[in-house]
Amino acid sequence: MTVWIGTSWKMNKTLAEATDWARGLGEFLAGRELGAVQPFVIPPATAIAAVAQALAAEPRVLVGAQNAHWEDAGAWTGEVSVPQVADAGARIVEIGHSERREHFGETDETVRAKVAATLAHGLVPLLCVGEPAAVKDAGGSAAFIADQAARALEGLAPEQLGRVLIAYEPIWAIGAHGRPATTAELEEPFAALAQAWGEKVQGLLYGGSVGLDNAADLLGLAPVDGLFVGRTAWQLDGYLRLLQIAAHL
Ligand code: PGA
Repeated sequence: MTVWIGTSWKMNKTLAEATDWARGLGEFLAGRELGAVQPFVIPPATAIAAVAQALAAEPRVLVGAQNAHWEDAGAWTGEVSVPQVADAGARIVEIGHSERREHFGETDETVRAKVAATLAHGLVPLLCVGEPAAVKDAGGSAAFIADQAARALEGLAPEQLGRVLIAYEPIWAIGAHGRPATTAELEEPFAALAQAWGEKVQGLLYGGSVGLDNAADLLGLAPVDGLFVGRTAWQLDGYLRLLQIAAHL
């Protein structure tokens, strides 16, 4: 079973910082056996090409984009397309992160269109789903995320679904204002995701306040195929420790 260990840098890092991080990862990995661990890194769009280039000698690391438009080209000022991020070196596209849904008008419909465009160009969609605190408090987490996933993945053929990654990222667990989810809190939502999609998609990941103290427990949850990490992995040391935890190095 593949164990995905990935990070999105969100809106952080200059080109110099991005290149340093990527070179350091390449040096760490050189000649090192990773077992089933599949690393990936999702820089801001400005740094995709530089990170891909810095990791050119380490093709085991997948580079991704945090967003891409559903159209291939055209009058969409400020956007980048899937062919453009692929051209820059991305092989994964993150889609539907809660910050994009909240601040940038991402809807189930645009998320679905972006998943389809990503698949059409042979990249891996990393679909993010997650419920707000009020939904969790009302006991609706599992139904909410199952519904989000169903809307995003509607109509896909089995072969297409087989390339999709789903990251469950409860909104209340993400970022500086979030609190880490306990494994007990994750059991029911992951069971729902696993029942609906576990056999069909490439993997189910968890994200939201992943740290060095809870990573092993989170990876120990049966349906969890990997971790999608923000703050803990922005410093290379944190990311390397997560790789070591996942690979039992
Ligand atoms: P965090 O971010 O690990 O900093 O909580 C997670 C995410 O938003 O994917």
